[in-house]
Amino acid sequence: MLHRQSASPRVVLVQDPAAAARLVVDEIADLCARCRAEGRAPVLGLSTGRTPVAIYGELIRRVREGGLDLGHAVAFNLDEYEGLSSSDPRSFAAWMERVLFDPLEWPRSRRHIPDGTVRPADQGAQCAAYEAAIRAAGGIDLQLLGIGRNGHIGFNEPGSDLHSRTRCVELDRSTREDAAADFFPEDPPRRAITMGIATICEARRVRLLAFGAHKRAAIQRALSGPLGEDCPASFLALHPDARFLLDGAAHGPGAQS
Ligand code: F6R
Repeated sequence: MLHRQSASPRVVLVQDPAAAARLVVDEIADLCARCRAEGRAPVLGLSTGRTPVAIYGELIRRVREGGLDLGHAVAFNLDEYEGLSSSDPRSFAAWMERVLFDPLEWPRSRRHIPDGTVRPADQGAQCAAYEAAIRAAGGIDLQLLGIGRNGHIGFNEPGSDLHSRTRCVELDRSTREDAAADFFPEDPPRRAITMGIATICEARRVRLLAFGAHKRAAIQRALSGPLGEDCPASFLALHPDARFLLDGAAHGPGAQS
């Protein structure tokens, strides 16, 4: 068990997901402008699920209005369900195309997501190649995260090691229940490929978002308990630039935005 450092993730209280989206997209716009001045491509770590929907809507709006240039941005997604191809509408790859990549005509060469159809025997090589691709791109500048009800980040379920890297994992019961509610009423996936906690923590900035009372217990555990594998999000306390953007319901009583 690791001890919490004095600098826990900074908490930013927001009114709602739209307010969080404006803050995060402001940050992405600043990052893109700085990278352009430095002559390099911004590298974004992206997540799927309900939490980032408002961010992707705001990104699309700003690009269309001309206030944001994502022209050279490179994207690495956190995770994908094992066994699903990008042509399966339930895959995270297909979700990203619908929600962000197609509307922005984001070139395939600049977006990355683990391939759910790789044979088990070849998964180790795929995962090592994913890590190498992130390094070759110069590392992730800004990683977006949601949080599972069980404290997972990416699909690093409770029990995940601080030093974990991109790998195949078994999904928890609560994660499978949430997946069933969204896309898989009959047989939610049992396994996924995910960036590891060490992979996530190497991003230069981490922005975790959470909205709603169903996230409160995980948030409270991540922010105030000891750092430990029972709540993978708690490890973000070790990151020098991690922020939690929370609405009042996710933060809990006494929250003011
Ligand atoms: C998704 C991911 C997950 C989700 C988390 C919250 O790519 O890695 O960790 O961020 O399960 O999901 P939502 O946002 O649907 O509540």
